[in-house]
Amino acid sequence: MNLTVIGTGYVGLVTGACLADMGNEVMCLDVDATKIANLRQGILPIFEPGLESVVKRNVETGRLRFSLDAEEAAHFGVIQMIAVGTPPDEDGSADLRYVLAAARQVGRFMPDYRVIVDKSTVPVGTADKVEAAVRDELALRGVDLPFSVVSNPEFLKEGAAVEDCMKPDRIVLGVEDPQAEALLRELYQPFQRNHERTLVMSRRAAELTKYAANAMLATRISFMNDLARVAEKVGVDIEDVRRGIGSDPRIGYSFLYAGTGYGGSCFPKDVQALLRTAEEHAAPLRLLRAVEEVNDDQKTTLVRRARERLGSLRGKRLALWGLAFKPNTDDMREAPSRAVMESLWADGATVSAYDPIASDECRRLYGDRPDLVLAASPLEAVRGADALIIVTEWKEFRSPSFAEIKSRLNTPLIFDGRNLYEPAVPARYGLEYHSIGRTVSGAA
Ligand SMILES: NC(=O)c1ccc[n+]([C@@H]2O[C@H](COP(=O)([O-])OP(=O)(O)OC[C@H]3O[C@@H](n4cnc5c(N)ncnc54)[C@H](O)[C@@H]3O)[C@@H](O)[C@H]2O)c1
Repeated sequence: MNLTVIGTGYVGLVTGACLADMGNEVMCLDVDATKIANLRQGILPIFEPGLESVVKRNVETGRLRFSLDAEEAAHFGVIQMIAVGTPPDEDGSADLRYVLAAARQVGRFMPDYRVIVDKSTVPVGTADKVEAAVRDELALRGVDLPFSVVSNPEFLKEGAAVEDCMKPDRIVLGVEDPQAEALLRELYQPFQRNHERTLVMSRRAAELTKYAANAMLATRISFMNDLARVAEKVGVDIEDVRRGIGSDPRIGYSFLYAGTGYGGSCFPKDVQALLRTAEEHAAPLRLLRAVEEVNDDQKTTLVRRARERLGSLRGKRLALWGLAFKPNTDDMREAPSRAVMESLWADGATVSAYDPIASDECRRLYGDRPDLVLAASPLEAVRGADALIIVTEWKEFRSPSFAEIKSRLNTPLIFDGRNLYEPAVPARYGLEYHSIGRTVSGAA
């Protein structure tokens, strides 16, 4: 099948590459000339495990190509997938500017029947707006061509995006036109050979499903973070509670980790956008509002603890392990590390940070500044620091040499926002260890 993917970011590039890998002919379109030029030379704009080899082999076979030309792209695919960004607008609602521009591009140039697929995360009613935008463009051209708009939200996780795309839990299709449904079922058939995973529903239901999924996951995280505060007060280890409730199959273990809050390009903005939709319909989501409040507070909880323990942070040096919003990605959008760094800088502290992948992204975001040192190793980051703060649970942080950490730190202090260690272990090495939802260990 020939298909076009509009927007070659995390979702567009991964989806395009995986669809090409199944034998489809794919054209990925973007407005970013540098990104397209780099991709044509095999340079990927993002880090995503396994993606480089999928892109490479499909570029080599000629099944995956990249374009800046909207007209060529509208001609190429019967299916036109929209995977552009939907950042938060000033009021928190999803900014649909890019989605509607993409829809207009298709309407402006499509030569005949097209199925336009919304893969971007978009509020309820967006498929109707996309349809109207395409119809407007066709009217401007004075033509009447058949087309269909489908909502097909994406559920892939950064850090495991290729795997998720190849083996999706479910494929949600908001489709009300049998011809478009048949085409998309055919497209996705190779991804569900083992069992059928397609859920067909109305377009509006598909749009809401995507927000509901992220809102539920964010709720689990904030619930645990809220509970962690109580656990600390009553002398309970939140990890015991997590295991105790996660073993209930009705609850399950996933997304029950207390920590320094959720971040990334999706949860914060999707929670905000859903809150906004609810308010617009005079049906405010009170629970979700609290989820957001807890998370905002949680992102800087480690800095508050550092202040309580060290006093003024002015002139202090804090080591930071982890910049990416989660492991296996270089994405720092809304990352808790940013809230931590910005609040340390506001206090007059210097940050000495280490991340296995995201240092370049950090440099791109913050530039060169005297109060930011990007270290080449975890131990280098710690040298001469007044405390170590851990915000991302990269594997390489799980079994560090506590003796080496202790010998390099000015003050033997760890603030762990990911509960990576059994509290007794760092304490055994003479380190004072603060984590989330557990009592402090090793304190003098
Ligand atoms: N990143 C994720 O993990 C993830 C997961 C599921 C869903 N989503 C959703 O998917 C959508 C895309 O997210 P992303 O993280 O891939 O975004 P991104 O910012 O990484 O990529 C978007 C790309 O679209 C391009 N673009 C913008 N306007 C365009 C146009 N008119 N024509 C062609 N290209 C255009 C941009 O240049 C950019 O390269 C968002 O709605 C997001 O919420 C993201």
